Amino acid sequence: MQKLMVTGGAGFIGSNFAHMILEKYPDYHVLVYDKLTYAGNPENLRDLNDNPRYTFVHGDIADAAKVDETVQTYGVDAIVNFAAESHVDRSIEEPGGFIQTDVYGVYVLLEATRKFGLERFLQVSTDEVYGAVLSGSSVETDLLQPRSPYSASKAGGELQAQAYYVTYNTPTLVTRGSNTYGPYQYPEKMLPLFITNAIEDKPLPMYGDGMYVRDWMHVLDHCSGIDLVLHKGELGGIYNVGGGNERHNIDVTYAILDRLDKPRSLIHYVQDRPGHDRRYSVDTTKLRTLGWEPQVSFEQGLADTIDWYKNNDQWWGKIKSGEFAGYYAKMYEQREILSKHE
Ligand code: NAD
Ligand code: TYD
Repeated sequence: MQKLMVTGGAGFIGSNFAHMILEKYPDYHVLVYDKLTYAGNPENLRDLNDNPRYTFVHGDIADAAKVDETVQTYGVDAIVNFAAESHVDRSIEEPGGFIQTDVYGVYVLLEATRKFGLERFLQVSTDEVYGAVLSGSSVETDLLQPRSPYSASKAGGELQAQAYYVTYNTPTLVTRGSNTYGPYQYPEKMLPLFITNAIEDKPLPMYGDGMYVRDWMHVLDHCSGIDLVLHKGELGGIYNVGGGNERHNIDVTYAILDRLDKPRSLIHYVQDRPGHDRRYSVDTTKLRTLGWEPQVSFEQGLADTIDWYKNNDQWWGKIKSGEFAGYYAKMYEQREILSKHE
């Protein structure tokens, strides 16, 4: 397995993964295949442009002819699929694009894997497929109860991978990662949105009561989990990947404001997201038995990430003044403000 096709590799986690693989495996070639949607950013990969072991192909995973041509032309050995529409709030506004990429696109990649006899297909999925977990932690055999158009489309994608393994013996693997944070995350997600808004002295739109719980994981830990499953996972297997850092949104927000020395009065409690999952929590025993454990503490990872956004305002400033500005106006300007933090 030397030629990896990293689909969605121009996005947040995929670009971090491409860098990690090139550094860790000196004999590997990474081919990033990406549609460059609003979330795909060539800047995330710019430092790789002169690397002879890196190739970029502009393409859509739902375009079977292009996928097939790419796999054949470059002699791809394995696919790791990060490509997705990835934001819950956008899925509530426009679910159709999620079905096209997160469901149909996965089918196209599975067909290519099967047709060309690739060694591995790893589908990067999410802990959100379990639905809200009010107590305890999800294990891989738990029922999937997705509750947003995003999580339902991700469940559709990974279920196909599982079915291909059973039906055609296609060598598939699935990882279910928890909320990921770190450098190069598009500022629509809570953490980079709140960090960059706070830097700009803009309000932080806190959904509902702020008592929602997410299990935060640094992107490098997520990538090392995916790498391990790709190389050591049992074919047909499903693996939870989670940071083990369950935090209430309000506490994460206080930590951001404190580090940036900004007042809590920036917090505006706003109208909640429909169907907002109260809590996610994954049990990572299965992956840990393969030898994985997260390396980055939440406190250190958050501090480093805040510093990265402080030092890279050109990266996110460009994004926020582009496509993002229209999105933000549409999503937030009409959102009712319920109260302001004192
Ligand atoms: P992202 O939105 O930052 O990046 C998605 C990438 O996929 C972009 O580069 C985009 O251009 C590309 N893409 C979108 N549609 C495409 C298509 N049809 N064909 C080819 N490329 C396409 O997402 P992310 O946060 O890096 O997430 C990566 C993957 O990890 C996703 O599958 C997501 O569901 C999963 N995941 C994310 C998190 C998280 O907290 N961010 C947690 C668990 C799992
Ligand atoms: P998000 O980053 O969208 O990830 P996900 O919904 O996939 O977990 O949101 C993380 C948490 O932050 C979630 O509970 C929703 C909340 N949130 C806000 O309170 N305000 C916001 O503006 C956003 C984007 C999210």
